[in-house]
Amino acid sequence: MIFHVLTLFPEMIREAASHSILGRAAKAGLIEVNAVNIRDFAVNKHGQVDDAPYGGGAGMVMMAQPIYDAYQHILQNTSDQTPPVIYLSPQGRVLTQPIAQELSQQKELILICGHYEGLDERIIEEIVTDEISIGNYVLTGGEPAALVLIDAVSRLVQGVLGKEASHQDESFSTENLLEYPHYTRPPIFRGREVPEILLSGHHGKIAEWRQEQSIKRTQAKRPDLNQ
Ligand code: ADE
Repeated sequence: MIFHVLTLFPEMIREAASHSILGRAAKAGLIEVNAVNIRDFAVNKHGQVDDAPYGGGAGMVMMAQPIYDAYQHILQNTSDQTPPVIYLSPQGRVLTQPIAQELSQQKELILICGHYEGLDERIIEEIVTDEISIGNYVLTGGEPAALVLIDAVSRLVQGVLGKEASHQDESFSTENLLEYPHYTRPPIFRGREVPEILLSGHHGKIAEWRQEQSIKRTQAKRPDLNQ
């Protein structure tokens, strides 16, 4: 799966996506993160990509033209179908596991990271097909949001997580339940013991206990998930 990211800070994207599971997935050719610098498509000699808002007011607005040209540049190298174009913005629908699942079915995604007061509205009308927020708070720019989306989607791409089962058990993947608690060695840490059932070797009972724990945890920590 290919993520094209239109950004003023391509190194933020490249660097963050080069580590851990995403880095490994990229090396294995399972995902590709193509960060495109919007500034490379500025037309004036100062490399200008933003300007003062019409009508006045504080802050700057990202100009439509450099984003449009960067988008056209990406389209020249994509497959026949135009990929979805996602603008990361607090005005979008809030990213959830089902949305990540839906996006993971795509071959390519184009992500646009905004800065300052945001984008000239006309570029949104012209090319954006979906607006996604990563939560009800405001970031300084769209890059951390794009990285969150890339991470959540990539781990659903076949082969990215070593064991196919490992994302099926997890929080949110089944019936909106949180994951059960995990323990590893030693059996006692500062007087706290690992629940005996986990040491019993009884797989059926362990599975039952874990399911119970998932339900209890969801009720205690995130009752909103099952409303
Ligand atoms: N850009 C700024 N804030 C954002 C948010 N909450 N989600 C996505 N993109 C953003």
